[in-house]
Amino acid sequence: MPTQLSTQLQGQVALVTGAASGLGRDIAETFAQAGAAVGIADLNLAGAQATADAINAAGGKAIAIEMDVTNEEAVIAGTQKLVDAFGRYDILVSNAGIQIIDSIANMPYSQWQKMLNIHLGGAFLTTQAALKHMHQQTEPSTVIYMGSVHSHLASPLKAPYVTAKHGLLGLARTLAKEGAPHNVRSYVVCPGFVKTPLVEKQIPEQALERGISEEEVVKNVMLGQTVDGEFTTTDDIAQLALFLAAFPTSALTGQSFIASHGWHMH
Ligand code: NAI
Repeated sequence: MPTQLSTQLQGQVALVTGAASGLGRDIAETFAQAGAAVGIADLNLAGAQATADAINAAGGKAIAIEMDVTNEEAVIAGTQKLVDAFGRYDILVSNAGIQIIDSIANMPYSQWQKMLNIHLGGAFLTTQAALKHMHQQTEPSTVIYMGSVHSHLASPLKAPYVTAKHGLLGLARTLAKEGAPHNVRSYVVCPGFVKTPLVEKQIPEQALERGISEEEVVKNVMLGQTVDGEFTTTDDIAQLALFLAAFPTSALTGQSFIASHGWHMH
């Protein structure tokens, strides 16, 4: 968590999904440090509560919200809980996600559906629930989708992930157009590999699938095309999300932003 305090999001209310862990947690903490009140939404309520407790202990404002982003009722109820607690809704970060490593030839259809439900269904449901409140406000509001370098290129063994992350570009671009009359802006943040539990789990899985060592997975598969052999950090991404949430005009709406230590440039 960054130590410097800012007031860039003072008075604003944000909901971050998947904020019990990894990128979502760092984004929630960074937004709280910038003055926002934050809803920590996650399947994992104990983890969400731990994030909220850490923010409140540091002098910020946060509540934990139990939410499965694929469950429409849970999304609507959790969104209402945020608005009941903090009185408005300015920023959604649709971040919750998982990874399943398998080939197109082998992957059960149920796994494909599960991935698309979480990454695309969850993004749709949380956006729709947010718009109900954002449309009632005149001040600008922001939706940030957690894309990936895989929103722009493919890797083997990740078909539903690559498909879903590409799909978020379409959702964000459509929202940029539909949201403009309501002052709603949308963005896609596209990280390279970040060492969160999602990636830690993938290292042995990819080593097994590809028949190479875990060291080779990290050095060649994950970081081989970066300019410096470095992982992207949760703080890199939290600072990018803060920049976008605080950006003062609609000039950047509908765009995606890659942060990957030079792995992919476009
Ligand atoms: P993580 O595993 O550390 O955190 C993901 C969080 O999402 C967990 O707290 C989990 O409980 C929650 N979650 C999973 N399914 C959920 C559901 N149905 N409803 C609500 N919450 C749910 O993972 P990480 O790495 O922080 O990933 C966050 C997002 O960033 C994902 O969308 C991922 O695809 C994306 N991303 C991650 C990268 C990485 O290298 N770690 C790179 C590019 C994108």
